[in-house]
Amino acid sequence: MNSLIRILTEKVISQIAAGEVVERPASVVRELLDNSIDAESNRITIRIEKGGKGLIKVTDNGVGMNRDDLLLCLERHATSKILTISDLPSITTLGFRGEALPSIAAVSRTEITSRPADELVGYKLKVAGGKLKSIDETGSPVGTDVEVRDLFFNVPARRKFLRTVKTETDHIIDTLTRIILPYNNIHIKLEEAGKTLLNLPGSENPLNRLSTLFGRDVAASMTEGFKKNGEMAVRTYLASPDLSRNRGDRLFIYVNGRNIRDRLITRAVMEGYGQRLMKGRYPQLVLYIEIDPTLVDVNVHPTKQEIRFHQSHRVFQTIVNTIASTFGTGFAGHYEPEGPKSGSKGFEPSNGMTMAEPEWAYTGPEAAEILPSEREVRQEYLVKEIPQILGQLKETYIVCQTRDGLLMVDQHAAHERVVYETLKRSHQRSNIESQSFLIPHKLELSLKEGRVVLKNLDQLVKMGLELEHFGGSTFLLRSVPSILVSVNWDDFLHDLIPLLEEEGDITRDRALDALLTMMACHGALRAGQRLSQEEMAQLLRQLEEVELSTNCPHGRPVLKKFSYGEIERMFKRVV
Ligand SMILES: Nc1ncnc2c1ncn2[C@@H]1O[C@H](COP(=O)(O)OP(=O)(O)OP(=O)(O)O)[C@@H](O)[C@H]1O
Ligand SMILES: [Mg+2]
Repeated sequence: MNSLIRILTEKVISQIAAGEVVERPASVVRELLDNSIDAESNRITIRIEKGGKGLIKVTDNGVGMNRDDLLLCLERHATSKILTISDLPSITTLGFRGEALPSIAAVSRTEITSRPADELVGYKLKVAGGKLKSIDETGSPVGTDVEVRDLFFNVPARRKFLRTVKTETDHIIDTLTRIILPYNNIHIKLEEAGKTLLNLPGSENPLNRLSTLFGRDVAASMTEGFKKNGEMAVRTYLASPDLSRNRGDRLFIYVNGRNIRDRLITRAVMEGYGQRLMKGRYPQLVLYIEIDPTLVDVNVHPTKQEIRFHQSHRVFQTIVNTIASTFGTGFAGHYEPEGPKSGSKGFEPSNGMTMAEPEWAYTGPEAAEILPSEREVRQEYLVKEIPQILGQLKETYIVCQTRDGLLMVDQHAAHERVVYETLKRSHQRSNIESQSFLIPHKLELSLKEGRVVLKNLDQLVKMGLELEHFGGSTFLLRSVPSILVSVNWDDFLHDLIPLLEEEGDITRDRALDALLTMMACHGALRAGQRLSQEEMAQLLRQLEEVELSTNCPHGRPVLKKFSYGEIERMFKRVV
């Protein structure tokens, strides 16, 4: 029998290796940017076409390469950044493997033009599918220009997996904005098909870079913290816990200038925020760790986005302490109790987060368990007379007497249901009534947020949210559904934008429902709001009008009934 095992050809080997480094256009951008940063450039321009599938061109004014270097840089494991194995533990550059350029060149048509400062002419090298085509003398400014065309032209299976131009562009923006954050002093420009998407002049002010990632409003509200502990220093930019999100997509972590993902650091961050965050919420922040390079191992993963610390415990503690002490000084004003003066134990002040509900409203599975008869209660209640209102309990529940016993209605949950159903119906009939602001509300978003809002602009208008593009990533909120006018708009927008980002496209049913639910929650009466007799009666009438399932859109119960039988058993009048 013939042997089944074969040695792979050099071409196949290089394509497999390339697969680890180059997954999509954004990975090419990452590698080329890393190289330009390592080359000490202070000006880098990135041009892309077709989401990077057509062209990725990175031009820098760094140290450049002479003819010999140019030829060498395409050899696998050729790098100027380490010499021997003993250099590996003390890497201070972003690159060190000598893999990126050969990998990219193996799966595209690449041209590299470069000139070091001490040479009079530059050279241009052309390579396609890993094969050197030519190297010629050429006039060139000092620095390097790498042009990558037709990514995966020779690996159709991979090319098929690339997503739409929009998605790939989003990935590129995501990658790029992450990488450049620590490099304030480098002027960075991103152009898509000749249009400037991003132009960040070099500046000493870190706020400029923070704005591209967080939007100007969030960036401006961030508090800086710093701590040094022996051979490591931690600098943080923390957004207030009020601006937390339900995903950890705004935790930006850098170790010696390299953007990484790390579970240990994420845990330390969460611990540093502690009780200040509601359960299941993640903060927005940037964390820069500068550490003796011999104390970290960066050679853990092909994409270099994972690292290992030699003294992880110390790193953990320093981060927790830095964050906790920043709160001690920076956000003192944020934790003053406000909102309903319930005095009840365990009720976190709402911190302006108007969606916060007192803990004692309904919690956990036990609450759900006592409510199996909810549906019956509801139906019974619907066919009966409007209950007689006895009053408001803890400014949260409407207490009523019915023919069969005691009825308690959670005013927030009930009103939320009413607003939700009303919005949903008027949306179906495309007649959401909207009302304009006298002075429009200005939104300064991040680049990514701006793109998602722009994409959904028409849909948002149909929802009664009229946003006008004001240039760049700035928008004006001009009008809103009339039913929502008394909403706290800052809080509303803090929830709206991440929701859009998460859903991407709100034409889909699920996304639409999430948006309606969110709007209803903001538009509804709060717990802790005193209601007049007339307001309570009106709410009960509205509740009856909407076709009800028993739960509020968040799945919480709207009402609960205690029958006279139950009450009598409670007082042992009957057994
Ligand atoms: N923009 C650039 N300016 C100057 N030199 C460059 C540039 N890009 C690459 N080089 C040179 O080419 C070499 C190979 O680059 P390549 O990205 O393949 O490897 P690396 O950066 O050393 O390691 P890694 O694979 O981890 O990125 C680099 O070590 C550097 O000497
Ligand atoms: Mg590199």
